[in-house]
Amino acid sequence: MIYKNVFTSQIRRGIKLKQTLKNYSVIASVLEKANIGEVTEVKGWVKNLRKQKDLTFIDVNDGSTSQKLQIVIPKNLNTNDLTYGSSVLITGKLSKSPKGQLELVAEHVNVMGTCVVSDGYPFNPRTAHPPEYIRQFLHLRSRTNYFSAILRVRNSLTRHIHNYFESKNYLHVHTPILTSNDCEGAGEVFKIQPDNEITVKAMMQEGRDKDSVYFGTKTFLTVSGQLHQEAICRGMGNVYTLGPTFRAENSRSRLHLSEFYMLEAEIAFCDTLQNLQNVIEDMLKYLFIKTHESNANDLHIIDKEKSVLPLWVNKEFVTMTYNEAKGILGKRGLDMTDEGINKEQELALVEYCNGIPVFVIKWPKEQKSFYMKECQDDNTKVDALDLLAPITGEVVGGSLRENSYDKLKAKLPSDRLNWYLELRKFGNIPTGGFGLGLERFLQVICGVSNIKDTLPFPRWPHNCDM
Ligand code: 4AD
Ligand code: MG
Repeated sequence: MIYKNVFTSQIRRGIKLKQTLKNYSVIASVLEKANIGEVTEVKGWVKNLRKQKDLTFIDVNDGSTSQKLQIVIPKNLNTNDLTYGSSVLITGKLSKSPKGQLELVAEHVNVMGTCVVSDGYPFNPRTAHPPEYIRQFLHLRSRTNYFSAILRVRNSLTRHIHNYFESKNYLHVHTPILTSNDCEGAGEVFKIQPDNEITVKAMMQEGRDKDSVYFGTKTFLTVSGQLHQEAICRGMGNVYTLGPTFRAENSRSRLHLSEFYMLEAEIAFCDTLQNLQNVIEDMLKYLFIKTHESNANDLHIIDKEKSVLPLWVNKEFVTMTYNEAKGILGKRGLDMTDEGINKEQELALVEYCNGIPVFVIKWPKEQKSFYMKECQDDNTKVDALDLLAPITGEVVGGSLRENSYDKLKAKLPSDRLNWYLELRKFGNIPTGGFGLGLERFLQVICGVSNIKDTLPFPRWPHNCDM
C-alpha cells in the first residue's frame, strides 16, 4: 500500500521510469516481427559471405538467436573490408527474397571491426569445428554457432529454474560463497586467505595463526549452500539457491569442474524420500520440456539427435535401493567396492533402465555425509539419493536431513557446527533437499559429453587461464 502511494505520487510529479532502448534492432526480434518495408539497423558478426557480380550476400548473427539475417548489399556500396568474422553495422530496408525469406537490403554498410582470417583467426565459415578444437580458444569461442547455442540454452535454463520455483512459492536465497564449513566433509575445499603480506603480518601480531588470520576461523569457498539453506528453511519454509560452488577435486574428467553452479533446494516438512523424489522428478521434466520449447533451434545446432525430447520425459523415473543396484551390477560383472558406485557403474545402471533416469536410494552410512538421516528400518543406511542420468551418471545428490538432535550431535564433525545442531533444538521441522549440478544437467539436455563446453570459462586443475 505504502509503495503504491509513493509510486503514484512520483507519476504525478512527472517522474517516469525511463525505458532504456537499444539503438539498434536485435536480430531475434527482426526475424520474429518480419516487418517488410521497415527501415532497420542491425549490428552483428558476419557468418557467411558470398560475392556475386552485382550483389554481395552476407549472413549476420548478433547472438540473440541461432538464426542469421541475410543482408543483400548492392554493388554501389563499398564492401572491401567485409570478410567472414568481421563486425558490422548495417542499415537498410526489410524485404522478402525471391524464395520468400526475410532479408535486409542494405543502404549503408559500416565495418566496425575487420577480421583477417589469415592473421590467425581460428574459425572458418561453413566448417563444423569439433568441440575439442573450439575449446582451445576460450576467448573467441562465443563466435561459434556450437558454443553460442549452448550459452543460450544455459541462459534459458536459469530463467526456467527461477520461474519454476517462483510458481511453487519457494524463496530464492543467496547463500554465502565464503564459509567456515565444509558441508560435505569430503575435504575438497579451497582455503581463503588475504594475499597481502602486510595485512597478514599485522593480523598475525594480533595472535592469530596464518590459516585463520583474516576471519578468525579457517575459511573456504563454499562446496554447498545446504547448511545455510537449512537455517532459512527452518524459519521461512521452502527455499532454493542457484550459485557458484567450488571443489578442489583432483579430477580432470569430462564431468568435473573446480567451479560450477549448483541449484539447491530445501523442502520444509519433507519427511519421506518419495516426497523429495517427486519434487526432483517434476522439476527436471519441467526444465527439460521448457528448454526444448524455448531453444529448439539451439538444441538442433548443438546435436540434432538431442533436439527431440527424450522418451523418459513421459515416463516415471526408476527407483532402486543401493543394495539392488549392487545386485544388478554384480550380475553384469561390475562388482561394487566399499567406495560406492563409480562412473562406469552409474552409466551401466542407466543403461539397465533403458536410458530412463534412476534414483538410487538408501545408501551405506559411511559413504555419505554426516547430515543425512538414518533410515528407520536399517541403522547402517541413510535416506540419501543420487539421481543417475544418461551421459553424466550422477546429476543430482540429495537426502532427508537428520533431525534428531541426539543422533546429529553424535555425528557432528566439529563444534563449529553447533549452530547447525541448534536448528534442531528450537522449533525444529523435518526437511529434505537436493543439489543439481547445472553444468551436468546442461550436458544431459544438450547431449554434450564434456562439461567444459557448458559454461563460458571453465576451471579445472592446472587451468584457470582467463
Ligand atoms: O552430491 P553433491 O555433493 O550434493 C551436495 O553438495 C548436497 N549438499 C546438495 C544438497 O543436498 N543441497 O553435489 C550435488 C551435485 C552433483 O550431483 C553433481 O551434479 C554436481 O553437484 N557436482 C559437480 N558438478 C561439476 N563439477 C563437480 N566437481 C561437481 N561436484 C558435484
Ligand atoms: Mg553426490
